[in-house]
Amino acid sequence: MNSTTLIIGACGQIGTELTLKLRAVFGNESIIASDIKEGSDELMNSGVFEILDATNKEAILKIIKKHHVDKVYLMAAMLSVTAEKYPDKAWDLNMNSLFHVLNLAKEKHISKVFWPSSIAVFGNTTPRINTPQETITEPSTVYGISKLAGERWCDYYYNHFNVDVRSIRYPGIISWKTLPGGGTTDYAVDIFHKAIETNNYTCFLKEDTNLPMLYMEDAIKATIDLMQSDKINNYTAYNIGGISFNPMQIATEIKKHIPEFKINYHVDFRQEIADSWPDSIDDSQAREDWNWFHKYDIEALTKDMIKNLTPSLETI
Ligand code: SER
Repeated sequence: MNSTTLIIGACGQIGTELTLKLRAVFGNESIIASDIKEGSDELMNSGVFEILDATNKEAILKIIKKHHVDKVYLMAAMLSVTAEKYPDKAWDLNMNSLFHVLNLAKEKHISKVFWPSSIAVFGNTTPRINTPQETITEPSTVYGISKLAGERWCDYYYNHFNVDVRSIRYPGIISWKTLPGGGTTDYAVDIFHKAIETNNYTCFLKEDTNLPMLYMEDAIKATIDLMQSDKINNYTAYNIGGISFNPMQIATEIKKHIPEFKINYHVDFRQEIADSWPDSIDDSQAREDWNWFHKYDIEALTKDMIKNLTPSLETI
């Protein structure tokens, strides 16, 4: 029997589109989706799905054996805002799921792992503009601490046990298929939904808060290209940049399509999280090593988001 690829956390914002893309490229039967709960109809109907708790190593191993899994994409995680509310649960999920998968690779049950890191590994002491690949990493959030620890463990397992684990420091990801949940960069998705539904959005970040962002199609391309590449020089986590904008700039873009749109601001505790993260990212190592480039700028992603989120005339 041919080997398969397992996505853990397949029903989340990135997991859903990653699973669908991998199925389109490699065939539905070779991509096994799993999550703690069921996902969208499109995901559930396009291939095998297993209920799986990412913190249960035996359960992961059982599915690996049942489906002859060779590669794992571990996408299950608690994001920055939720992790501040539930630090113990965030540490348990973000760390133990990674340990289980790294150990399963060390024990040779699987041969390759993808694990997402984040711009949250950076902190207030990190250079904020064009943040380098290697720089000061002193995160001030629970989420950032878990991602930084995870990066160090990936590096450790690569160096000590030759585990092929690859990672990207995702910026905020903008998409229309599946909502994000519990993140600080989520405003950049929510703003589109509210603009289309009510012509109005109250933003929890200040108008000039720049954050690195990426459109989903680019994020998926980066993830799959990194896993396919044979020119990797970094088994910790690659910076990938792309675009960077603030709430005022994205609101200006949206107004070009929805002139009535109005944004107002009611800043809350999430501002402090955003303020500790970079404005923009230097991703030259990813560009050199595996030819990473992004396609969508702020104009292109705004156009695509509005096109896909606006109910079509036929359905009214
Ligand atoms: N999107 C994440 C968050 O906001 C950052 O990686 O928590």
